[in-house]
Amino acid sequence: MVDCRECKTRLRADKLEDGKCPNCGSKNLTDPRPFNLMFQTHVGATAEDDPSSLVYLRPETAQGIFINFLNVLTTSRRKLPFGVAQIGKSFRNEVTPGNFIFRTREFEQMEMEYFVRPGEDEAVHQQWIDECFQWFTRIGLSADNLRFYEQPKEELAHYAKRTVDIQYRFFPERDEEERQWDELMGIANRTDFDLKTHSKKPEDAEGKRLNPDSTDDLSYFDEAAKERFYPYVIEPAAGVNRTVLAALMDAYTEKTNDKGEMRVILKLKPSLAPIKVAVLPLAKNKPEIVGLAKSIKTSLQPAMRAVYDDTGGIGKLYARQDEIGTPFCVTVDHQSLEDEAVTVRDRDTWEQERIKITELKDHLGKRLTDGDVK
Ligand code: GAP
Repeated sequence: MVDCRECKTRLRADKLEDGKCPNCGSKNLTDPRPFNLMFQTHVGATAEDDPSSLVYLRPETAQGIFINFLNVLTTSRRKLPFGVAQIGKSFRNEVTPGNFIFRTREFEQMEMEYFVRPGEDEAVHQQWIDECFQWFTRIGLSADNLRFYEQPKEELAHYAKRTVDIQYRFFPERDEEERQWDELMGIANRTDFDLKTHSKKPEDAEGKRLNPDSTDDLSYFDEAAKERFYPYVIEPAAGVNRTVLAALMDAYTEKTNDKGEMRVILKLKPSLAPIKVAVLPLAKNKPEIVGLAKSIKTSLQPAMRAVYDDTGGIGKLYARQDEIGTPFCVTVDHQSLEDEAVTVRDRDTWEQERIKITELKDHLGKRLTDGDVK
């Protein structure tokens, strides 16, 4: 960590370009000082100065998977290759949090350790790199805003044989193209480093076990080949928050209506939209229309997330749903009482079609899943 003496910004020394403060351009920086990215705390009702109560919040979800490796192996009787996935909170005492939810001190990770035979690691690594890229496009991220970044040797974590990041264009407003990109996900080949290291039983100078809680050997026995070895690990590791930020950025569009008013439309894939359909009565003072709209909403709810809203004129109600990415609005009008049909309005095209109420659930269900992520 260094401090800029001019503008007082706190910076990561290893991220500086040309030794300059990115905030004010000054080179008047303090000498670098060590900084622990992990949050310390104390467990239990012990005194703060009791060293045995000192713990750290996890900075990645990965290590829990290695600790559980043997447990998963013996209870699920898996054969290689297999993966264990984990989603959950991680904590890092980041020096420079910010840029909306791009970098925060508490964030959500989704990681997998995919265990393979040594020798099969390189090909499987490449498969995961390609598959993860495709997954981001399937949830709605444009391929133009995604790219691979091959970490050079000097950047690789000490345990990694190869790491490829998937970067997203998080900063399109920046003039310099290279500065527009940052990490969305990392896919590392961690070799057998973790399973081997957790299996070691290091001792202090007096021969006392440093970590008496970790006693298991995390190797794998291949019954067919009658050989024992430590599997290699391919680790796809993504941030949930950064994925959400990227999905929101790609989905955000603006459109001008007939009256020349600008409207925000969030073109989320239907599977990501928090609400799938909004049922709106055209006249909120007509009990028959309100009753029918509410009963349609209730009938849709077992199949999809539906809401009812009558707190404004129809234009405002549509605009509200467009802005939060609801793929469909269903409007109940006077004629619905006669022809038992409703108007279904599409978020992206603003086109409308008349659908029989008895066919509505199937119609919407099909349109919501057509071409979306399975
Ligand atoms: N187990 C490997 C690992 O943790 P990482 O590249 O440090 O790798 C994986 O983290 C992903 O977690 C990153 O690609 C990013 O999406 C997300 N991430 C890391 N630090 C973050 C932070 N401070 N705020 C939000 N997301 C973060």
